[in-house]
Order: sequence, then structure tokens, then C-alpha cells
Amino acid sequence: MGRASASTARVAEEFPVAVLVSGDGSNLQALIDRLHLAAEEPTRIALVVASRPEAHALERARRAGIPTAVVALAEHADRAARDRALAEVVAAAGARLVVLAGWMSILTREFLDRFPDRVVNLHPSLLPAFPGMHAIEEALAWGCRWTGVTVHFAEEDVDAGPPVLQEPVRVLYGDSPESLRERIRDVEHRLLPEAVRLFAAGRVHRDPARRRMVQVPEEDER
Ligand code: GRF
Repeated sequence: MGRASASTARVAEEFPVAVLVSGDGSNLQALIDRLHLAAEEPTRIALVVASRPEAHALERARRAGIPTAVVALAEHADRAARDRALAEVVAAAGARLVVLAGWMSILTREFLDRFPDRVVNLHPSLLPAFPGMHAIEEALAWGCRWTGVTVHFAEEDVDAGPPVLQEPVRVLYGDSPESLRERIRDVEHRLLPEAVRLFAAGRVHRDPARRRMVQVPEEDER
């Protein structure tokens, strides 16, 4: 069912989010299918921003009728200038949450300060294990029996902010990076929408005094 035909059934107060992407956008698709197009969910993807014009995620957004923008580092003098442009488009979309769903570029302090406690990232490991670009390969190389998925607050340091939700994924004997990635993706596609749903419901609380403490009501986690 499209958004227009669902409009009468939608809850009164919508929760606009911006999703930042760089690649395939399978997690964006999960957000579209599970939240954006679900009449009973308040989450509305107001904007998808890609760091590269060739990101397939843009095609997914367009198919769902979601406005898109490309804010590429190459088109700006430096990262600070890129992030000012990025903050402008995100703010103009009225986003109450910024979701990094495969966004492959470091954000400046200035950008994060513009949306305090409102930027979350998705990472394919149980942080703080295996931050960075090769989390799945590194978990395999290390011989881990378990790895997993983390949705966490984004901070200036890569993959360093406190978790909102985490879920373990079993590493099987004989797993290849591809087979493990497939099972991790399945969890990501469920966990990221779950986290956004919790934000939309106002159920994620970051302790102002102890900044690494995040309260998420247990009964809402699964
Ligand atoms: C995901 O595995 C996410 O954890 C990582 O980048 C990947 C994005 O995948 N940060 P997709 O573009 O959503 O398919």
C-alpha cells in the first residue's frame, strides 16, 4: 500500500527521519518496508542523502517516492564544508533523527552538534569489538564464535558511541565472509527499524550526566 492511500490510517504525529547512505541500501529498504510504508508506524523517511551519486540506495528511495539528495565530499572544499551542506539539507527536511545506514564517511563534530543525540549508526559487529570497515572479516579471522549487530549513537570517533540495541549472531564453522554477512544483514534489517521505532516512540533516553548510559525499556527491545 502506498503512502497516499495509507494517509487516513496514519497516526496523527509523524516522526520524520533522514537516512544517510553510500551503497546498496538494503537497510534503507528495510526502513522503507517496515516503517515508512506501514500505516500504523509514525516514522516517515523525509529524505535520503547519498555520499555518492551512484549509490543504489538512491534508486530504492526514488522507487518509494522519497526525496533524495547527493552531498559528495568531492564537491566541497573539505569535510567541514561538506558537513555544513549536509546539515542544511537534513535540517530543511525537518528530520528528528538521522540514521546512518551504510554511510561510509566520517562526520564532523559540527554536524553531530547540530543534531545532539539524534544521529545513530548501524555496525555489523558487537561493538566495541571490530570497529571500522572490515568487522565481518575480522570477526572470522579472529575465530569468534559470536559476532553481531550494533545500533549506536554516532560520535566523532568511528563506531565509538554508546549502543542503543545490540544482537548477537552465531559464527558457524566454515562460514565465509559472504555467508556470515548474509545472516548479519538479516538481523540488521530487523534491528535498525526496531531502534528507529523506539526513537519514534520517545523510548530511548541518554543519561545527560553519564553519557554512555542509554536507557531502552527492556520490554520494547524485542
Ligand atoms: C551494513 O552492513 C551496515 O552495518 C554497514 O554498512 C552496511 C550497509 O549495507 N555500516 P546496505 O547498504 O544497507 O545494504
